[in-house]
Amino acid sequence: MPVSDDMISALIDLNRAGDDGLVAQLTSQLRSLIAAGRLAKGRALPSSRRLASDLGVSRNTVTYAFEQLAAEGYLAASHGRRPVVTVDGGERIKGAGATASRGRAAKPQLSPWAAKLKQTDWPMSYQASLRPLRPGHGDFREFPDEIWARCLRRSAVRAAKRELGPINRIRLCEALAHYLATSRGVRATADQIMILPSAQAALTLIASVLIAPGDEVWVEDPGYPGAAAAFRASGAHVTGMRLDEQGMLRTPGLAAPKLIFMTPSHQHPTGRLMSLARRTEFLRSSKPGKTWIVEDDYDGEFHYDSRPVPALQGLDAHGRVFYVGTFSKAMTSDIRLGYLVVPSALVGTFEIAQRHIGLVASSHIQEALAEFIADGHFLAHLRRLRRLYHARRDHLVEGLARHLGDVLTVEVPSGGIQLVARLKRGRADQAAVKRLVDAGVETRALSSLALGKPRDHGLLLGFAAWRENEISAALRTMASCF
Ligand SMILES: Cc1ncc(COP(=O)(O)O)c(C=O)c1O
Repeated sequence: MPVSDDMISALIDLNRAGDDGLVAQLTSQLRSLIAAGRLAKGRALPSSRRLASDLGVSRNTVTYAFEQLAAEGYLAASHGRRPVVTVDGGERIKGAGATASRGRAAKPQLSPWAAKLKQTDWPMSYQASLRPLRPGHGDFREFPDEIWARCLRRSAVRAAKRELGPINRIRLCEALAHYLATSRGVRATADQIMILPSAQAALTLIASVLIAPGDEVWVEDPGYPGAAAAFRASGAHVTGMRLDEQGMLRTPGLAAPKLIFMTPSHQHPTGRLMSLARRTEFLRSSKPGKTWIVEDDYDGEFHYDSRPVPALQGLDAHGRVFYVGTFSKAMTSDIRLGYLVVPSALVGTFEIAQRHIGLVASSHIQEALAEFIADGHFLAHLRRLRRLYHARRDHLVEGLARHLGDVLTVEVPSGGIQLVARLKRGRADQAAVKRLVDAGVETRALSSLALGKPRDHGLLLGFAAWRENEISAALRTMASCF
């Protein structure tokens, strides 16, 4: 039904506290009224002065909204005249406008993978602001912002004179090859290293290059949901492998898979360390060229109790292992940099795939990071974080024993940034997480990380991102919730 000038303002509902600005809200609501046919073709809208006064907003707000709709082709606006609707609700944007006017939206046809996305709560279920004891984060307040800002500035100045170079910046790849060899025992030349926007991007790239629909992929169960998601997106059949105290177990009798994903230096989420013997066993049973192994060393920088066990990649003499790492734990998560060490036989293919999929990291940031590493800031920052996180882990472990020893059993990880506390009684970890979140403590339910039927029930608690007084306060809240 057409609407009068008075009704237009009555139909518009602006939320002054909303995240979208007033111009965006007004533009969108006028657009919807046109698309729904309520403001018909040829209809003159009220003047910007009148609409602004009716809505109690500035005249500029209305003028900007009119200009936007004119640019989109919904209105004809000329100076000193009231804007006129130029389209019919039914005729414009057959998809959005027309179906909205009938009140029933056509269901978009998603891929089978995307259709399933809503069924998992990963990774969107956290609150927007970081709260204790959210797992998976380092303490970004400790990051040397000033030094990093200087590296970024120098990189930006140099960029103006830089010629187009390789998408994986050589200086950074060389610095990383050296760091990974000395700290993790990774054996790789700089050209085997790809710099990507995240570790998750590395998994997507591997899945895109290697996985065909129906291929078998093994992952840890419970494990990192992003890995199963990446491989499923390429059509893999993903099977969860049980864990024992050394991490992932090979289920006897299963046919060899196309790919095995594992987190041997700190199993995600339990923090267990895979022994040398178990690593060798996985390598021995993975036929070169038939079964690939993806070693995700997402927080391998943080070891507290013993010298780190060398990376599986460095033990492999047959080029079967991909090594994945990220800077989102040791630097900040919004630096958006991860890396992938590719077996040498696949380097050419991966470089082409990287360009095609567009998983390319900014050269500015890569160059800045190369300088940050070369000048010794990265190692100095890691040494500092290791000391801090070690103390925070111990503080959380002691506090859990003191305040919650009768309800939770703690598995002390030898490194990493989070730990698992299992429920001594019952399986209601998701209900416990909800209670804790309502009280201001964020955790993740262990059962929510299970691929199949959950075998373990407990809480995944982050310690690295939180100062000792924050951990103590969270523990008191937890104690009052249980
Ligand atoms: C085991 C594991 N691998 C990979 C990632 C992803 O790291 P990024 O932020 O670089 O994608 C995470 C993130 O929490 C993780 O826990």
